[in-house]
Amino acid sequence: MTLELLYWMRLVQYWESLYIHRKRSGGIIPTVAQQLHRENIERVVQEALERSCVTPGQLSAVATTVKPGLALSLAIGLEFSQRFVRQHNKPFIPIHHMEAHALTARMLQPVSFPFLVLLVSGGHSLLAVARGVDDFLLLGHTLDIAPGDALDKVARRLSLIKHPQCSTLSGGQAIELLAKDGDRTLFPFKTPMGQTYDCCFSFAGLHNQITLTIKKKEAEEGVEQGTLLRCVNDIAAATQHTVASHLAKRTHRAILFCKTNNLLPSNNPSLVLSGGVASNQYIRKVLTSITETTGLQLFCPPPKYCTDNGVMIAWNGVERLREGKGILPPHVDVRYEPKAPLGVDITAEVKAAAIKLPSVRMKIPTDG
Ligand code: KG4
Ligand code: ZN
Repeated sequence: MTLELLYWMRLVQYWESLYIHRKRSGGIIPTVAQQLHRENIERVVQEALERSCVTPGQLSAVATTVKPGLALSLAIGLEFSQRFVRQHNKPFIPIHHMEAHALTARMLQPVSFPFLVLLVSGGHSLLAVARGVDDFLLLGHTLDIAPGDALDKVARRLSLIKHPQCSTLSGGQAIELLAKDGDRTLFPFKTPMGQTYDCCFSFAGLHNQITLTIKKKEAEEGVEQGTLLRCVNDIAAATQHTVASHLAKRTHRAILFCKTNNLLPSNNPSLVLSGGVASNQYIRKVLTSITETTGLQLFCPPPKYCTDNGVMIAWNGVERLREGKGILPPHVDVRYEPKAPLGVDITAEVKAAAIKLPSVRMKIPTDG
């Protein structure tokens, strides 16, 4: 039963090559990503099989991400997988990337359906109720850019790559590290969408606010763009805090909406926090204040399973295989979908409910 898991475990290495690319360039360049996929996929799958001491014949099925994502990268994975399953006569399980992020927590901890999930990454920001392996209710999503994208852009604008402690880190990781020695109160950025009582997100305006502040500080310090500012730690701390506060407020409203509409069990309701940005310890702490106030249990996979990884795709395959959902014979043609919504969209209902939030005292780490 776990053979496919072993198989895909090693795909982690393959994703790592993408990460190195992302860190060095400060973002993903689709054609470079595609080239890396093409160069690595055969070798990584081969290595995965060898290290797991598994032959293709012993696999129960092959699970591959087909949506949403970069078309050029999805195409390589899908093409390879379809050739592979036809050659070895194996079932094929197409996977939705966001569903995989949402269900990873169930691989490690006893999280049963239904549960609320906040997914925050470089490409997404959404709140959903997971009611089953392939059954989601979408409560909110980002209206513009994702939080990881905003953090990466701020990190780039601050030239954090030049910071001796940050040269090998992603934008979000760099902001988290520098924020530890910063004073967030020195830059009181406005939390987005304060007057919109729904569960959607927006990070483009915040990114704009921060860029204007950086320009102002560059003028004050008399330095050019590309020079590390003296107040870089304080800007990082304020950025991280505002992102955390925005995520916390929308999540708080989603919890209240779920309670009002009986979408979560009254016994032990849970919130799962996942996606690359969920590796952030400060964001986890701020969300803990919300779950403690509302009586939910918070589950966060460890950082290596929060960021993109092959294991979460394998796990989604295992879950689908167990339930017999979405398993295709090898010869069925499958298409990739660069854009693919998650679940049934009830964002309009959430907005119509216009739930006002009670104030919450956040237990914020003193060093942030
Ligand atoms: O889920 P993920 O690995 O890939 C996407 O599907 O996007 O998320 C990557 C994003 C990047 O924007 C990165 O800066 C952010 O997650 N990230 C973090 C942290 N580690 C990675 N953001 C905040 N704090 C972190 N520790
Ligand atoms: Zn992801």
